[in-house]
Amino acid sequence: MNQSRIGYEHVPEQDASRAARTWWDENAAEYHDDNGAFLGESRFVWGPEGLTEDQARLLGSREGVVDKKILEVGSGAAQCSRWLRAQGARVVATDYSHAMLEQALIYDDRASSQHRVPLIQADARELPFADSSFDAAFTSFGAIPFVPDAERIHAEIARVLRPGGRWVCSVTHPARWMFPDDPT
Ligand SMILES: C[S@@+](CC[C@H](N)C(=O)[O-])C[C@H]1O[C@@H](n2cnc3c(N)ncnc32)[C@H](O)[C@@H]1O
Repeated sequence: MNQSRIGYEHVPEQDASRAARTWWDENAAEYHDDNGAFLGESRFVWGPEGLTEDQARLLGSREGVVDKKILEVGSGAAQCSRWLRAQGARVVATDYSHAMLEQALIYDDRASSQHRVPLIQADARELPFADSSFDAAFTSFGAIPFVPDAERIHAEIARVLRPGGRWVCSVTHPARWMFPDDPT
């Protein structure tokens, strides 16, 4: 008798993670075609509503971020980090997709030297940084909505932040997935 292949099948974590990263690699160009104008190249926007860090100051005041060591996870093309860099912060942008970071390099090439940011390819669940390395960490729609085990991201951020450091993240509401990926 034929066994149906339709239904739930357990996928080992490593395979699921590789598949998700491959999706971002394969869709990076289309993602930036669709969202690039809204996101800008050196703009820090927290979500589709258009709230910017310049308005919200969730990571600290204009003076407060100067010289602060700030980590971005799931940075994509690192638009937010580029903006923070121009404010005087010491920023590192990380993402696990090589193609998304390649887009960051394209933007960096076009940016002035005060806007360029160090880029590191890393999974937000396994960060290549020592304990207590950063004053603050953030992600704007990166990493968290795309993993089944977001608690691992929070644990890694807690590890790499200095005691009392700040972690700010924005995520999509689950209902958002019903709608087209259109910033409007
Ligand atoms: C919607 S984009 C957000 C990035 C940027 N803020 C933007 O608006 O374009 C999501 C990003 O999260 C990254 N990402 C997803 N899962 C990740 C993980 N486990 N670790 C690191 N980055 C991840 C993807 O590669 C992608 O660049």
